[in-house]
Amino acid sequence: NLSPIDTAKFVAAKKAVDFVEDKMRVGLGTGSTAAWMVRALGERVREEGLSIVGVPTSTRTAELAAQVGIKVVSLDEARWLDLTIDGADEFDDDLNLIKGGGGALLQEKIVATASDTMVVITDPSKHVEHLGAFPLPVEVVPFGWQTTKALIEESLDSMDVLGRSGTLRMNGEAPFVTDEGNHIVDLHLQRIEDARKLSLVLNQIPGVVENGLFIDICDRVVIGHQDGRVEVID
Ligand code: A5P
Repeated sequence: NLSPIDTAKFVAAKKAVDFVEDKMRVGLGTGSTAAWMVRALGERVREEGLSIVGVPTSTRTAELAAQVGIKVVSLDEARWLDLTIDGADEFDDDLNLIKGGGGALLQEKIVATASDTMVVITDPSKHVEHLGAFPLPVEVVPFGWQTTKALIEESLDSMDVLGRSGTLRMNGEAPFVTDEGNHIVDLHLQRIEDARKLSLVLNQIPGVVENGLFIDICDRVVIGHQDGRVEVID
């Protein structure tokens, strides 16, 4: 008796976990959809005795993975991964993504890039024609973040985007702090015409560590529906 939205996330997660084979090194994403995947993978490990290792993309996911019986190793131990399964905040028809709504984009991007295959699990609400309605997260170092934010906003003037403003992500009264000790500036762009160019422009600004655009990283999207149907796009 899951809610309709949790049913959608659960069936997508369950389908994606079928792609995991014995002895694989698996990147474990972050977020509510990825949490369903970690639990489903843990079940396979316990029931089938799958011998896999998981590389988590956040401390949250590391804790959950350990709880459900997945052997957790660092990316430096695993080095390269067979498969990463993660959620997303938006995806388009080219399987480009916005990620980082949960604040884990840096580790998520490093882990996904280190993987032969990246599979995104999602409900249909994240499918968009143009990326950008979801605020684009940009991870910035705390030192001089206001200057960095101003430089980011200035750089947007040369870009084909509708919005120009960024907001520092907060956690109550204090700035949100990522697992890597950084802050996040969310960019309210509304519509991104050239995601590839924007990603390069943002990452050239001193103080920017990484941004939430995942271009040519995702290989397959598994969409779960509220009635239990699953669609796979690759
Ligand atoms: C975490 O930083 C994000 O990239 C998540 O993958 C994204 O926010 C999706 O989360 P949900 O599955 O909770 O929507």
